[in-house]
Amino acid sequence: MVRKGNSIIKGIAVEELIDLLNRAYADEWLAYYQYSIEEKVVKGIMKDAAIAELQQHATDELRHADWIAQRILQLGGTPLLNPKEWFDRCNCDYEEPSNFDVVAILEDAIKGEQCAITTYSKLAELTRDKDIVTYDLVSRILADEVEHEEDLAALHEDISEFIQSMKRR
Ligand SMILES: [Fe+2]
Ligand SMILES: [Fe+2]
Repeated sequence: MVRKGNSIIKGIAVEELIDLLNRAYADEWLAYYQYSIEEKVVKGIMKDAAIAELQQHATDELRHADWIAQRILQLGGTPLLNPKEWFDRCNCDYEEPSNFDVVAILEDAIKGEQCAITTYSKLAELTRDKDIVTYDLVSRILADEVEHEEDLAALHEDISEFIQSMKRR
């Protein structure tokens, strides 16, 4: 059925929007998985603070995936049905943890957030004045990703400083 809701979209093909949202959807699932495995394997000094942060981020990324799936469905599309597609369609690399030390884990996570910020900035740029509903959605997610990067960077700084102060003793 023709969707009246889609008549708000101007100057961008609905199929293109669905494709871009599905790519972001793949990113969110991979980000969710990355955080959920990181919080389990992370080791080292002040790891409890990192675990709390990583768990919170995992919850947020899963919520983003859910929001994006809902928008894809509203547009008349289908969210990716097979996890195998996540690696083919994602914008951001999956940062497989190779070093479980808390500082290295936080650095991997920061890389992921920076890629997410780039992705959602582009999506916001692309949908501004063309699809106000998707624009609103990607702006909300972008704000979360900016906050994620800031939280991780602050924690990374605190832990690094603490390690330095221990070495000076
Ligand atoms: Fe996210
Ligand atoms: Fe994030």
